[in-house]
Amino acid sequence: MVWNLVIKKLSWNGQGKALDIGTGAGALAIELAKKFPASRIWGIDYWGKLWNYSKLKCEKNAKIEGVANQVVFQKAHASKLPFNDGEFDAIMSNFVYHEVRDAKDKKKLISESFRVLKKGGTFSLQDIFKSKKKFGDIEELIRDIKKWGIEEVNFIETTHEIPIPKLLKFELKTMGLLYGVK
Ligand SMILES: C[S@@+](CC[C@H](N)C(=O)[O-])C[C@H]1O[C@@H](n2cnc3c(N)ncnc32)[C@H](O)[C@@H]1O
Repeated sequence: MVWNLVIKKLSWNGQGKALDIGTGAGALAIELAKKFPASRIWGIDYWGKLWNYSKLKCEKNAKIEGVANQVVFQKAHASKLPFNDGEFDAIMSNFVYHEVRDAKDKKKLISESFRVLKKGGTFSLQDIFKSKKKFGDIEELIRDIKKWGIEEVNFIETTHEIPIPKLLKFELKTMGLLYGVK
């Protein structure tokens, strides 16, 4: 599955705290908690009217999956995260930044995610990063991320990584994953 790739590329040992930005129904946060039973995972989302997700739904899902004691779901905006600088050991996000309507400046939005990641922490962020309209030139985006002091930045195209039906391939052609180490 497309979202599984985010966890696959997150090079984390499960020690400490991770944040899922724009968690939706909590699928990624829950999956990561299941993978690392000693970890604590935060899932934030603004749970707006456009989506059929909610904090309660996330909490119910975590309970069903047996990780309710590991996961905290919190209402928050991706453009102004209610966390301290360097608070998380890992951050991840799937298909969210392009949806954040109150943040036209996507670089500023992405840099807010990096703000809460500690030095040496790992990240895995998937979105339609190859959409020039939304994110500008991908090479320039990578250069800018490095300028923020992020040590290692890798980019892969989602359709190169997982088998995707031909019809969907066109739909997902701008999708990619930024991952690495701060
Ligand atoms: C396509 S869904 C992806 C959900 C989840 N990451 C997943 O992979 O299933 C986009 C999510 O972004 C969230 N979102 C949009 N704008 C947001 C914002 N400003 N702050 C936090 N979350 C936001 C939406 O509420 C929605 O849950």
